[in-house]
Amino acid sequence: MRFLLLPALLLLASAAQADDCLIELKADDAMKFDKTEVSVAASCKSIEIKLTHTGKLPAASMGHNVVVVESANVQAVGQDGMKAGAAANFVGADDKRVIAHTSVVGGGASTSVKFPGSALKAGGDYSFFCSFPGHWAVMKGKLVVK
Ligand code: CO
Repeated sequence: MRFLLLPALLLLASAAQADDCLIELKADDAMKFDKTEVSVAASCKSIEIKLTHTGKLPAASMGHNVVVVESANVQAVGQDGMKAGAAANFVGADDKRVIAHTSVVGGGASTSVKFPGSALKAGGDYSFFCSFPGHWAVMKGKLVVK
């Protein structure tokens, strides 16, 4: 039994480690993310965000993306993103406050983005939010670096 258990435990341990660098979010037609807090390990070389829109509404009316910023910048980046428009995925061109962002997707679609772990510092105050017009105020959560 011992000989079977040990490889199983090692597999579980390595799976958990990989997950620390992957942020998986779902968003729906009710303008909500399924999580209000996500976390990544400070040791991540690369971080991946995967967003799945589980709703049915099109991107033009209920589009969602994931934008990562320092928490203090959510409102300003959200407002500037609205001005940037749909073709820019509601993210201002060359906005240095944007640490990472996905494209905007509609119901049934998914998207992802990878960015270097070095973009985040342990103990920093980061948030993720959707920059689709009007969404940033409710579609947001904390990104904790552990
Ligand atoms: Co949204």
